[in-house]
Amino acid sequence: MTTVHINAKKGDFSDCVLMPGDPFRARYIAKNYLKCVVEVTNVRSMLGYTGQYKGRRISIMSHGIGIPSCLIYVQELVFEYNVTKIIRIGTCGTCISHVNINDVIICLGASTDSKVNRLRFNDNDFSAVADFNLVCNLKIAAQNLGIKFHVGNFFSTDLFYNKNIHLLDLLKRYSILGIDMETAGMYSLAAELGIQSASICTVSDHLVTQEKIDYKKRESCLNNMIEVSLESLLLDDVN
Ligand code: HPA
Repeated sequence: MTTVHINAKKGDFSDCVLMPGDPFRARYIAKNYLKCVVEVTNVRSMLGYTGQYKGRRISIMSHGIGIPSCLIYVQELVFEYNVTKIIRIGTCGTCISHVNINDVIICLGASTDSKVNRLRFNDNDFSAVADFNLVCNLKIAAQNLGIKFHVGNFFSTDLFYNKNIHLLDLLKRYSILGIDMETAGMYSLAAELGIQSASICTVSDHLVTQEKIDYKKRESCLNNMIEVSLESLLLDDVN
């Protein structure tokens, strides 16, 4: 059965899905890292692929920008395609001086200015945290590959262009390492649906120094994060 937003057939997705925001990044990962790869969905050009990584069946599905878009795909993947593990592989901003452009951050928890978690959690504040096993496996995979990483808190914002000049000071004061637009919503939906989820992001924008990853280089700069997440899926949970 297809869904409103995904035209894959039942069984077309692996239980493990890596989710970049950008459909072309999904295509880049599928073409460069997976064998025997098949495009399984393309509604609205939101591309999804399934293939083999070192013998493990893995899917890559793009989720678009922002919590509302991300949650549509996460919910449909879980309800209709029995997905149980999702790793978001995104880009993020930072305002922390010891975090640099191209650094990789594993996102432990995420605060937000979005109302979605309160909408779902009866107007209470939900503690949006990653799955412990996925975080452990991301850390082990990064260490095995010798890739430097940070682990810490995120802030998921609805406003990419934010006029609040005090926000960065606030985020710095609370040691928020990364700013994205999806993780807080994804973590709470994953909790409600009883699946494992984690986010790992590459820093593409330094909001203090104004440095950015060049758009043309964005694809190749993300290889460290892609390799860490793929390798992490080959590790067993440590319960
Ligand atoms: N803010 C929010 N989301 C982002 C950013 C940012 O600066 N960079 C990449 N995703």
